[in-house]
Amino acid sequence: MQKDLGNYRRSYEKSGLDEATIKENPLEQFQKWFYEVEAGQGIDEPNAMTVSTLGLDGFPKSRVVLLKKYTDQGFIFYTNYNSEKGRAIEAYPQICLSFYWPNLERQVIIKGRAEKLAANLSDGYFESRPMGSQLGAIVSPQSEVVASRETLESALVALEDEYRDKPVLRPSHWGGYLVRPISMEFWQGRPNRLHDRIRYSLQGDHSWLIERLAP
Ligand SMILES: Cc1cc2nc3c(=O)[nH]c(=O)nc-3n(C[C@H](O)[C@H](O)[C@H](O)COP(=O)(O)O)c2cc1C
Repeated sequence: MQKDLGNYRRSYEKSGLDEATIKENPLEQFQKWFYEVEAGQGIDEPNAMTVSTLGLDGFPKSRVVLLKKYTDQGFIFYTNYNSEKGRAIEAYPQICLSFYWPNLERQVIIKGRAEKLAANLSDGYFESRPMGSQLGAIVSPQSEVVASRETLESALVALEDEYRDKPVLRPSHWGGYLVRPISMEFWQGRPNRLHDRIRYSLQGDHSWLIERLAP
């Protein structure tokens, strides 16, 4: 079985990235791009990002997770702390986040250190979730082998009964990570494969070195 994909070829022509007009701070540049991608439409979940971790088995692993907030400090997502990614982050907090936004032919790659979000912030976000998602977080031992789908569904039904009249509190194994960036690379597709790549690298605590990389 085979399929040749050599004819998938596209010229990227929608935009450019210029040292003269980019922001000095990469989080502000991220915000600018994020707003433009949202406004450009054509992407259902512009906050879907690939999170790559160094696994305990020595393999890198990537999976899609939703970015739920960004601030001056960094990028926040929520997950199960006991999951495969949670255990990987515990051992190796240095992780990579990446976004691909085909509507504007852009990619952003962020390297940073992940830390557990303060418990009260995770509580606040958990509280804002629909009850079905709250119970799902309790019922699902994320990344563990389960006997069947029915096992999960009947555990959920039992919990729905139990929590009919009481609020669902955040389980301690579920919460947010804040990823503090140390490097952020912005990629803008350009014609003739001469794409723009601008990398910001953190120098000390606050200042960012800005460099252009060859495509
Ligand atoms: C669009 C999309 C959004 C997702 N969002 C999340 C999320 O916010 N948090 C999460 O834990 N998993 C999310 N997942 C599931 C993860 O990709 C992954 O299956 C799960 O986190 C278990 O990963 P792990 O076993 O490597 O820890 C999402 C998947 C997709 C496709």
